[in-house]
Amino acid sequence: MTLSKCFNFQDFRQAARRRLPGPIFNYIDGAADDETTYRRNTSAFESCDLVPRILRGVEDVDLSVTVLGQKLDLPVYCSPTALQRLFHHEGERGVAAAAETYGTMFGVSSLGTASIEEIAKKHSNPQVYQFYFHKDRGLNSAMMQRAKENGIAAMMLTVDSITGGNRERDLRTGFAIPFRLNLRGITEFAMKPAWALNYFTHEKFSLPQLDEHIDFGSGTASIGQYFTEMLDPSLNWDDVARMVAEWDGQFCLKGVMSVEDAKRAAEIGCTGIVVSNHGGRQLDGSRSSFDQLAEIVDAVGDKLDVIMDSGVTRGTHVLKALSLGAKAVGLGRYYLFPLAAYGRAGVERALGQMKAELVRDMRLMGCREIGELSRANLRFR
Ligand code: FNR
Ligand code: LAC
Repeated sequence: MTLSKCFNFQDFRQAARRRLPGPIFNYIDGAADDETTYRRNTSAFESCDLVPRILRGVEDVDLSVTVLGQKLDLPVYCSPTALQRLFHHEGERGVAAAAETYGTMFGVSSLGTASIEEIAKKHSNPQVYQFYFHKDRGLNSAMMQRAKENGIAAMMLTVDSITGGNRERDLRTGFAIPFRLNLRGITEFAMKPAWALNYFTHEKFSLPQLDEHIDFGSGTASIGQYFTEMLDPSLNWDDVARMVAEWDGQFCLKGVMSVEDAKRAAEIGCTGIVVSNHGGRQLDGSRSSFDQLAEIVDAVGDKLDVIMDSGVTRGTHVLKALSLGAKAVGLGRYYLFPLAAYGRAGVERALGQMKAELVRDMRLMGCREIGELSRANLRFR
């Protein structure tokens, strides 16, 4: 499939499936247990309908929002995700550049394959650093320090991953980092020459946020092992309160699902939370972010920025979340499949399509600015 024939999320997903070796496609596409939360994340948007207004004279549409102290041209941003260079050699570099083209924010992961320094130097659009809290406290302090020195706009601590989700597709394929080819992988490799050529003719895969601190030696670790063996399951509110104070800037918790936790985040001085179930990749059976959004906005929406991610694949999903009171919406697989299939050009096309959908849908809704969206234009079935 050529890039110009990709018109939506499913087209890009199919293109990525064709190009990637099975274990890599399934790592991105997969989720935990029976993947019920993953499916519900997107279908949840269908339990609610938009009620458009007419004849309000909408010529220009302003999609900008301010979130975590940053002005973004779009109400969507590229949520931090791991291992991007494995999907396409342009990896984080391609995603950061595409986000810059559209004037929006992106995140670099603790498991990112380009360094926060390099990306921060090259791009002026806001960057969040996604932090995993490791057992090695020295590593945590060093990572915070690096983020600070590089003027990272916001710290995003992911709190839904103190142990690995049960991703059975990865168990079946043996997906592990650093990526090495086992016998089955070699067969896949032979079947996917375009990916293999790209992977093996560019710089070596590395994890620059972690390489100095973690010796993977000649072994490999599954993503589940990384979470379970290297992240600190004892992480608690006092630890985070200390981090918030040490960071002394925009600090966001990613993976908040309950009202009580949202209130606690506000109390310890977080400036934002991401209502997220990690794209259904951690606790299967968890409620969808969209279903849970309204009560969290009601409880803390006036105290911090409520952001949401998980399951967003359309402009209308974004408008529904913003109407409930989210300040911005994170995209995960929505940009990862285009990255995997076409690199930066794919991410740019996908973000361009999202922008076009948002402009069109805002016009059809009779809204000029994001601030005009409200619960008055939603009905739940
Ligand atoms: C992720 N996500 C993620 N989150 C995080 O905090 N740190 C990370 O390193 C990663 N890595 C990662 C890899 C892959 C392949 C995926 C699909 C997701 C979760 C991500 O930031 C976001 O929360 C979800 O992807 C949102 O769900 P959707 O949009 O993919 O449905
Ligand atoms: C994932 C990570 C690394 O979801 O957050 O695979």
